[in-house]
Order: sequence, then structure tokens, then C-alpha cells
Amino acid sequence: MADTPVITLNNGVEIPQLGLGVWQASPAETEAAVRFAIAEAGYRHIDTAAAYRNEEAVGRGIAASRVPRDEVFVTTKLWNSDHGADRARPALDASLRRLGLDHVDLVLIHWPLQDAARRIETWLALEAALEAGKARAIGVSNFTTEQLEEVIAAGSIVPAVNQVELHVRFPQQSLRAFCRTRGIAVESWSPLGGAPGSWGGETNTLLGDPIVAGVARRHERSPAQVLIRWHLQQGLIAIPKSVHPDRIRQNIEVFDFELDAGDLVALASLETGERIGADPLEANWGARPTS
Ligand code: A2P
Repeated sequence: MADTPVITLNNGVEIPQLGLGVWQASPAETEAAVRFAIAEAGYRHIDTAAAYRNEEAVGRGIAASRVPRDEVFVTTKLWNSDHGADRARPALDASLRRLGLDHVDLVLIHWPLQDAARRIETWLALEAALEAGKARAIGVSNFTTEQLEEVIAAGSIVPAVNQVELHVRFPQQSLRAFCRTRGIAVESWSPLGGAPGSWGGETNTLLGDPIVAGVARRHERSPAQVLIRWHLQQGLIAIPKSVHPDRIRQNIEVFDFELDAGDLVALASLETGERIGADPLEANWGARPTS
């Protein structure tokens, strides 16, 4: 089992570049997948969220792995209904209770929402959580450059991470360039092109793409391994989701081959600039009305 490379965040905390995502995994699937990923496959990074409704299962999976807690990087996210000074702190405490942990390694604001004032309040609450030792790093998810600028201007801490939809079809070059200038690490969600049905698509057409398949054949690897390698070689943090042991293992067996310049050109040709998921400027599920 090769060690996963780490990226050093802007506050010095190290995050393994590859983690297990658990969006849309049921509690039973999550517990088994997390235990297997850590104990058998060598993962040291799990990415969950309050909204996934599987934080308890993540906590049980970590405990069942028998790997010491401080060797596993755990991320959770604050849900849309918990924005604001009054809600953010108890919501994070509730996540910690569900996870069975006294702190997480990273907590993110899950979606920016449409209410700028509340977004800032929420960020300041995360700064307080960092100060209180409830998280080792704080960041955001699905934020645009403008929303990042706003938080940087209003807060005293630059987000460590922005986790966004990112894959070969939607590589987010300009957002990544902005994040580089501010020292914000970028994490890719749906790095393999997403689960069928999650956002309306019936199949994952990226894993079945003929160009990806061609690169995979050349390296005698799977399409998923090629796509994960692409993220790693771009300096991104990727959190592919699977609940199947063979795939969980396969997805971390990516440190012994490298895509060459020709592969990267071939994969770059897949860029469409189209999202599969929601546009952050429109997504506002669960938000409480502004009073
Ligand atoms: P499953 O959980 O049934 O294995 P993303 O991480 O981009 O959201 O993609 C996740 C989707 O890709 C899920 O539907 C997952 O299904 C599937 N998946 C994950 N790893 C692999 C793999 N190695 N080969 C094929 N499909 C995979």
C-alpha cells in the first residue's frame, strides 16, 4: 500500500491528496466503505457532510478500522440551513457529536447561498470554530472567485480549501488560477464525472468515454484510475466516491503510473465547460428565508 501524497494547506495542515467521498452512500454502505478504505485499502482521508446523513456511519467506520483517529483526515460540511451566527456553531457541534469526534480536520461551508451577509457570518463562525480547536482547517465549497474575495476581505483567515465540481470536462481553469494566487487548495468533487442519476444524467458518460478508455488501455489501467491520476497530476485534491471494495481499492492504486504529455492533451480535448451539478449561483436548497 503506497502512501498517499499530501498537500500542505495555507495554515500548514497536511491533507492527503486522495480521499474517499461518501455522498449518496447509505449509512450501512458508508460504514463498511469507510472501514474497508482505511483498514484494507490505505485511505487516510474521508469526505462527508451533514447533508449526506451518514456522519454517524463515517464515525463508526473510522472506529472499526482500528487506525488511530489522528492518522485519518476527516472533512465535513455545514449545511445550507445552518448558515448564520446563531446556527453554525451548534450545527458543527452536532456534526462532531454524530461523527463521535472532538474535532474534524476540515470543515467547509457546503454552498455559498444567495445571502452574502449571512455567508460572512457563517465564515466568521468557522473562524471561531478553528480558534476553539473544533477544526484544524476551515474552507468553503462551491464558492466563486467573487464569493471567495468577499470572505477574504471580511474575515481574518483565508479559506484553506475550495471544494468544487471539477473533472476533465469542467476543469475550472480560471477559478483554479485565482485560488493559486490566494493560496487556496482546490478539491474536486465528482472527479470521475459523478454518479449516474445524481443530477439527472442516467449514466456516467465520462467513465465510458472512448478517449479515456484509450488512455486507460495504453497504461493497462481502468478509466477511473486514469481520471484520478489526472486530478493528482494537476495538483488537485480528489475524493472519488465508491461503496464497492474492488473500486475503492482500485481508485487508490494510482501512485505507480503517470500520464504523459500526450495523455494530458488527449484528456484536455474532453473539456466542454459544462457542469453536471448545480450552479452555485442558483443553488440555495434548504436556506432559511432572510429576516
Ligand atoms: P459505486 O459507488 O457504485 O462504485 P464521482 O466520485 O465522480 O462522484 O463518481 C462516483 C461514481 O463512480 C459512483 O457512481 C461510483 O459508483 C462510480 N465509481 C467509483 N469508482 C469507480 C471505478 N473504479 N470504476 C467504475 N465506477 C466507479
